[in-house]
Amino acid sequence: MQTLNIIDKINKLKRQKNAVILSHFYQTDDIQDIADFVGDSLALAQEAAKSSAKIIVFAGVHFMAETAKIINPKSKVLLPDMDAGCSLADSCPPKNFKIFKEQYPNHLVISYINCSAEIKTMTDIVCTSSNALKIVNSLPKDAKIIFAPDKNLGGYINKISGRNMVLWDGSCDVHNILEAEKIVELKLKNTDAKLIAHPECQAAVLELADFVGSTSALLQYTSTSNFKKFIVATESGILHQMKKQNPTKEFIIVPSDKTCSCNDCPHMKKITLKKIYNVLLNESNEIILSDFIMKNALKPINRMLELS
Ligand code: 13P
Ligand code: SF4
Repeated sequence: MQTLNIIDKINKLKRQKNAVILSHFYQTDDIQDIADFVGDSLALAQEAAKSSAKIIVFAGVHFMAETAKIINPKSKVLLPDMDAGCSLADSCPPKNFKIFKEQYPNHLVISYINCSAEIKTMTDIVCTSSNALKIVNSLPKDAKIIFAPDKNLGGYINKISGRNMVLWDGSCDVHNILEAEKIVELKLKNTDAKLIAHPECQAAVLELADFVGSTSALLQYTSTSNFKKFIVATESGILHQMKKQNPTKEFIIVPSDKTCSCNDCPHMKKITLKKIYNVLLNESNEIILSDFIMKNALKPINRMLELS
């Protein structure tokens, strides 16, 4: 009998077990290509919410798999590597956040989805980079708001909305490291290119950008714009869809430092086809959350989904 390759084996198991693979744009090309759905954090949450699959294999990081489980408790949610965390989520430990929150009574909490489920239980509305402005603007102009955990996204929303939200001092190691100086150099060398940036980048980078948006918004911009060349300030995985949708356009990823020409999230890149196959086969690495978390983290996620 012919030996099946890993992709055929995964597809066979998916059919046998009524499973789907949801992948974030920051996954490697081979994973994006095998996935049933590829999207940004908001689209993945929406997809998980409406999925009727028995098993969801989440090709992404821990907080995304947790979110999928919370909004779709009937599905078994499997994360191919339990160590696929997130530096931004880790920058907001629940114990410290609880003390921080107590210093600001009468404040509503808006949390970026890149946080632990426990932080979500202390949150009024969750948001993603796709809908952060819309969520903030859904609250009265004089509302007192804490925004956590990303100070860069929070600062950017403060700037464009004219608000003064209190910001938790957290950031994403992958985006926060991108330097404005390096980008200015790239812009000078490529005067015909548009600079596009994810709002997790520092304010100095966002100020230089021609367009700021979530991964989906950046992808859409490159596909609908008449420009042919883009300097991309975000994680390198997004280039796969950008090149697929725009084979004649040129994309220059902003390098994270002088020694590295790539810009990879080490957590996202922990997921491999082999690990996807293993968790599907053994139904291992299941996300299990307490009843308290399931109930209390669902409310702010549902508020976000209603407002989106
Ligand atoms: P989006 O997918 O919402 O753009 O977020 C990017 C990110 O850092 C995911 O971890
Ligand atoms: Fe977290 Fe940053 Fe990686 Fe996104 S890119 S998963 S925010 S560490």
